[in-house]
Amino acid sequence: MTVPKTSLAFAIPTLTICLVLLPLCPGQPRAQLGTTPNIKPIVVGRCYSYISLINPRLRYDCEAIWRQFEEAVLRQSSCNVTVEDYHHMFNAMPQSWPCDRFLFWSKTRTLMHSYAAVVRDFWTLEDTLVGYMFNDLIWCGQEDDSGFDFSSCPEWSACRNHPVYSLWRQASQNFAEMACGNITVLLNGSTVNAFSRKSMFGSVELDGLNPERVDYVNIKVVTNLEGPHLESCSQGSVVDLLQILQSRGFRWTCTDNDQTLMILQCIQGPKPSSCRTCGNGLLDGKDPLSNEDSGGSVEAE
Ligand SMILES: *[C@@H]1O[C@H](CO)[C@@H](O)[C@H](O)[C@H]1NC(C)=O
Ligand SMILES: *[C@@H]1O[C@H](CO)[C@@H](O)[C@H](O)[C@H]1NC(C)=O
Ligand SMILES: *[C@@H]1O[C@H](CO)[C@@H](O)[C@H](O)[C@H]1NC(C)=O
Repeated sequence: MTVPKTSLAFAIPTLTICLVLLPLCPGQPRAQLGTTPNIKPIVVGRCYSYISLINPRLRYDCEAIWRQFEEAVLRQSSCNVTVEDYHHMFNAMPQSWPCDRFLFWSKTRTLMHSYAAVVRDFWTLEDTLVGYMFNDLIWCGQEDDSGFDFSSCPEWSACRNHPVYSLWRQASQNFAEMACGNITVLLNGSTVNAFSRKSMFGSVELDGLNPERVDYVNIKVVTNLEGPHLESCSQGSVVDLLQILQSRGFRWTCTDNDQTLMILQCIQGPKPSSCRTCGNGLLDGKDPLSNEDSGGSVEAE
């Protein structure tokens, strides 16, 4: 039996969104939460759930992974956990993924989840064991105590080596380095800097991609149906991304207003005017994008 992708799509509050899009949420006021209560049973339980239900062919020692995690985090100042500190933990959970299924995204989290749920072939970071185990959690240790700090953890911005950020940084890098075949990147054309060098995609994953392993980087720029239409394949920071890809020897395609993504947006929150175009187009068998002046694709070898 296959498990629906939606079961992997936890609701993820602002914290994780800010983590992945770290520089986007600098001024967001939020309480300084401590380590997620019951973190051990949650993490170990998710690990067992992953290896028993989601990917039963995998053989991992969930208790050992947890021990390596504690080793990295505990008895450390809460701002002093580097990606290297997690290396033993990552070594305990090697994972490889089939080619042509890697999905990267930036500032498109909600849509990415429904896209991955519909186009079942996609793998995102959250589908990996480490992504699944630590999604949505917060943690930090304390220098003079052997336990987690459940009362407060530092803000991301306060730390160079934040324990949560370092883990996601390494996880993202591993994920990107594994990527092969055709990969897909979902960007948000309703934001300024749809591609940002400060996002996890722009700062870690892009550099981790290997042009020898990746056949095509297929970029999809998606805007909110109701706008604003700020960036596209030919406008704004996406152009910078295409130049970087080009200079590093990647083949790429870039698509504005991907039809599947637009239909998904219509299903999620029908906006009468834009979705009528969509629906009529489908019913009539016409190209639903024919009224969109920014529609179209560009391609480079
Ligand atoms: C940070 O960790 C390193 C090695 O783990 C240690 O040498 C250093 O003293 C720590 N610094 C702080 C401020 O805790
Ligand atoms: C684009 O980003 C804005 C602001 O973060 C967000 O509200 C919107 O849902 C995003 N659009 C898509 C298609 O992900
Ligand atoms: C990879 O992407 C290119 C360009 O979009 C496409 O022509 C090709 O069919 C894709 N290959 C696979 C295996 O999906």
